[in-house]
Amino acid sequence: EKGTYPHYMLKEIDEQPLVMRKIIQNYQDGEGALEIDSDIVKAMKKADRIYIIAAGTSYHAGLVGKQFIERMAKVPVEVHISSEFGYNMPLLSEKPLFIFISQSGETADSRQVLVQVKEMGHPALTITNVPGSTLSREADYTLLLHAGPEIAVASTKAYTAQLAVLAILAEVTAKSRGFAVEFDLVKELGIVASAMESLTDSKEAFEDIAREFLTVTRNCFFIGRGIDFYVGLEGALKLKEISYIQAEGFAGGELKHGTIALIEQGTPVIALATQDFVNLSIRGNVKEVAARGANPCIISMKGLETDEDRFVLPEVHHLLTPLISVIPLQLISYYAALHRDCDVDKPRNLAKSVTVE
Ligand code: M6R
Repeated sequence: EKGTYPHYMLKEIDEQPLVMRKIIQNYQDGEGALEIDSDIVKAMKKADRIYIIAAGTSYHAGLVGKQFIERMAKVPVEVHISSEFGYNMPLLSEKPLFIFISQSGETADSRQVLVQVKEMGHPALTITNVPGSTLSREADYTLLLHAGPEIAVASTKAYTAQLAVLAILAEVTAKSRGFAVEFDLVKELGIVASAMESLTDSKEAFEDIAREFLTVTRNCFFIGRGIDFYVGLEGALKLKEISYIQAEGFAGGELKHGTIALIEQGTPVIALATQDFVNLSIRGNVKEVAARGANPCIISMKGLETDEDRFVLPEVHHLLTPLISVIPLQLISYYAALHRDCDVDKPRNLAKSVTVE
């Protein structure tokens, strides 16, 4: 039930700090260390390459998950869109492990790949929010998101839950492979949960941004570098699916290879700046688009901010920034849709689970 909330989407955005805490609890052993089913850890240890298969928002979570797994557990990861995988199958490694990420566990495109790889005899793990879902039943292993039912078509809490579970999987795998993880993930996810709370308490700031930048525009760009780019892709998907504004996410450095031609007077460009090593370069991209008339909105992270920034995110571990930088984008999309009188929870032409190919 959505209780006092006007929309499920807003309720689900607000539930994210709670979901973080639930995930931490569910994946902790008696001593407070992170723990995952030992068969899954064995499968992760055995794999020489991981193939993440997903669609939409879950695919965007996979892109960030690749960074977690490669940086912490040092296993190579490829991320594929499920609808493309069947006919674009890469040459597989000798000991592949397939990870299916799916909120609903019912996405037909992903299921088709699962059937295909099971026929080939490869192991598969499903990360899903729905116990007993098709993808969970048909895979060898399941990890649950513990996000509670997600009703709004636009996925919000499932995305951050997917990221948290992928980070935990990466950490546990790293330890099992003998790699030290140089930070305490339980503590850092706790910091993420508090940071999320401060963001969901700042709704007015995001409503203002939506009103100012998105009430009348035809299009909107999201730019970022490194993991900020992946969060930008998710921000763009969120905005287009519920507000019908043409939105695209771009890698900052790629703009000048074509997309910058689309910048006109007043084009909103939402830039994420959460990573120290690319802070100067993304700000350079903002200058380039501003010089061509764009209306930039910089969302940065504490410690990296400048006077020109529209919103400064509370500081979290640099690998975990997607868990919090996505929240302003979810809220900006929500208010943009609201201001444009769109049906927030049930956008046109879309279904919550896409059970046809
Ligand atoms: O249930 P799944 O995670 O497999 O769904 C995948 C996509 O259909 C889904 O993420 C879709 O892109 C959302 N509506 C995005 O908000």
